[in-house]
Amino acid sequence: MVKRTWCAIAALLLIAAPAGAENGHAAWLRYAPLPPAAAARAGAEVPRAVYRLGAEVTLARAEDELRAGVQGMLGRPLESVNALPPTGAIVLGTLASIRSSAPGLAPAGELPKDAFWLRTVHQGNNSFTVIAGGDARGALYGAFAWLRRLSAGEELGALDAREVPYATVRWVNQWDNIDGSIERGYGGRSLFWANGKVREDLSKAGEYARLLASLGIDAVAITSVNANPLFLTPDFVPQIAKVADVMRPWGVRVAIAIDFGSPQSVGKLQTYDPADPAVAAWWKSRADALYAAVPDMAGFVLKADSEGRVGPSTYGRTHADAANVVARALKPHGGILFYRGFVYDHHMDWRNLKNDRARAAYDNFHPLDGQFDDNVVIQIKHGPIDFQVREPASPLFAGLEKTNEAIELQITQEYFGQARHHVFLAPMWKEALDFDMRAHDQPSPVKAIVAGRVFKRPLGGFVGVANAGDADNWTNNHLSQANLYAFGRLAWNPDLTSAAIAAEWTNQTFGTDPEIGKIVNDLLLTSWRTFENYTGPLGLQTLTDIVGNHYGVAVEASEENGWGQWHRADKQGVGMDRSVATGTGFAGQYPPAVAKMYENVESTPDDLLVFMHHVPYSQPLKSGKTVIQFIYDSHYEGADAVAKYVEQWRGLRGLIDDERYQAVLKQLDYQAGQAIVWRDAVTRWFHRASGISDDSGRVGAYPGRIEAEAARLQGYQLVTVTPWETASGSGAVECPAQTPSCTATFKYTGQAGPRDIVVQYFDVSTGAAHYRVRVAGKVVGEWTANDRIPTRKLDGSSSSRFVIAGVELKPGDEITVEGSPDAQETAALDYIEIRSPK
Ligand code: GCU
Repeated sequence: MVKRTWCAIAALLLIAAPAGAENGHAAWLRYAPLPPAAAARAGAEVPRAVYRLGAEVTLARAEDELRAGVQGMLGRPLESVNALPPTGAIVLGTLASIRSSAPGLAPAGELPKDAFWLRTVHQGNNSFTVIAGGDARGALYGAFAWLRRLSAGEELGALDAREVPYATVRWVNQWDNIDGSIERGYGGRSLFWANGKVREDLSKAGEYARLLASLGIDAVAITSVNANPLFLTPDFVPQIAKVADVMRPWGVRVAIAIDFGSPQSVGKLQTYDPADPAVAAWWKSRADALYAAVPDMAGFVLKADSEGRVGPSTYGRTHADAANVVARALKPHGGILFYRGFVYDHHMDWRNLKNDRARAAYDNFHPLDGQFDDNVVIQIKHGPIDFQVREPASPLFAGLEKTNEAIELQITQEYFGQARHHVFLAPMWKEALDFDMRAHDQPSPVKAIVAGRVFKRPLGGFVGVANAGDADNWTNNHLSQANLYAFGRLAWNPDLTSAAIAAEWTNQTFGTDPEIGKIVNDLLLTSWRTFENYTGPLGLQTLTDIVGNHYGVAVEASEENGWGQWHRADKQGVGMDRSVATGTGFAGQYPPAVAKMYENVESTPDDLLVFMHHVPYSQPLKSGKTVIQFIYDSHYEGADAVAKYVEQWRGLRGLIDDERYQAVLKQLDYQAGQAIVWRDAVTRWFHRASGISDDSGRVGAYPGRIEAEAARLQGYQLVTVTPWETASGSGAVECPAQTPSCTATFKYTGQAGPRDIVVQYFDVSTGAAHYRVRVAGKVVGEWTANDRIPTRKLDGSSSSRFVIAGVELKPGDEITVEGSPDAQETAALDYIEIRSPK
């Protein structure tokens, strides 16, 4: 008896405990049990059976999803039935099938393809939930939408909601390579390719299609824009078909990126000249072969004449000639060609102040407006440069009135901390999507232009460069999943607010407890501004190593080279003059009202000031603060905000599962250290360049910091670090490879009491150096530097932090860091910092 009671209590405890270990693989489709009150209400509203009309596999998937969702969230089954039960059911099908089989339940009105209608119908005491799609895919989207409502604890008893996607194009591009690597991918290896061929096991690719379908994304390019011509060889036709087969049940079609030189390299023709009839015939034969195996293939993506890719310029032809020859091969099959607007010269003379990469897309494509076939879409990055932390919306959006367009948003965090930093990108995308171009002086937000609504185009929409790989949680950083989610939701409905998207994602991913929502949503919604604050405010662009890994800080990397990402900071001032009157003329590429705003310093928003103008450091902003003081202040604010994220996240302990709690905590803690590296590097660089001191006296003064160069060194040798601003003081120390170990000894001169010892060291991608810290001979901390940071150098990317909390120190104590190199990793040290415990 006693035993049984104990079992019952144990069972209850088990149910009441927060969700168990989770690795993030379920993403936002966890279907976790609803809290008791929501479960009780939904229990009454949700029918007990599902009646599916139609045998299509996509409808069957929708039914499975409903059953899994109801089972998971309400803890009871949803029974599949073969006839309409008079007592009520979820009725799932296309609008046409519901209208013919259960006319009393069908909503009055029409549904286009991909659209859906959710409706409850009460007949006496019985209620029916109707999930009707314009087609089977629409019904699947409807099922996911209904489950989303259920998971948020919404009222489901009086539904009448019709949703039509905002645009025809809702695609993602994966930049996956044939060897299984992913260009700019941080979520593991490719879901599609490994070792030069299709993966044996494509089950995760199928699961990815499910995630995409839950957002309404209906096509995915499965090869990188820097296309390998091999994908167009006959061997790959069945391999592409295999991927298409696992994605099709979810209504997701595949596309591939193509290499424009393929008629020559693969087809062995004399040329790849788009005007050569043999070339046109070759494209046709390749398209025919692919469509024979994959009849619903979505199309091709083409990057030509850009970053070393060949293109029509070889033969003096235009981008329209190039696009059309391929588009005509796709046309009979209903395929679409996405032609990338990302075309620019990366050998520009930086000395010429009139040169400007930002002008390139407009200069290249605007003159061709009207010359592209109707199944061509020009795919345009959201800003005129390249996914920088802040850019204006590309003027090309308003510069094509007779051509289909899509906006390209980058979901993978290439310039946004590469999934090591947490940055929720929806607020940035919203700014671009909502930006009003004032085309013909009429309201013309970018989202409406790309969807074809402004210039009445038949095709257009949204393309996201996606961030998924075979990591358990798809993206390696649990919080980065929110970017994939947000892209999909905005592609479906760009009028949604960032806050609404954040709330939806958090509810489904971590739970509906309001405390969870408060913490996670705040982290999400402030993170873009935070990241911008410490990596490149005022339109400086991301001050990263643009010729290298695009990760760590390197303020001058963008200067004095042909890539054109210049900020032109010098002793007097900073920024690119892009005005028409005195600069590159970029501002004049916008419609008149916008051009006028960007033409003058006074009317340019502060956030883009130095993107549009070269100004002195003493230039006042709208707040009255000078540019240089803003650069200092924003970097301190950014770093402080990340430190606060760590504390905020700690508030989730016990409210969410421990596995994801710990993983995100570790990531945020790392980010907090990196934000300090950025802060110090950028502020010291501008301090040196401008010669103007920080009003608050922070730049150059670091209380509690002792440079490794100033320590008593045994074995360690001084080393200069490049770029200089990425090491504190005058450089760092390193222990020569092959030396067993070296030591750096620091003397503590502060007051007695508990202190945190921060050790700033370098963790490069090679080797696993070991560090051990002793205070007065006693070991207080040790660790191995085995992270795979994307650099082999001592620099802003490898600079890392280890914190030993609450060590009792007394004046005169010696703090010794012992470093043992491994392989080419030299156990390098930058400084230690002693601070009061938090
Ligand atoms: C960026 C990115 C490249 C990519 C290119 C593109 O420059 O760093 O890896 O190929 O964009 O969008 O084509």
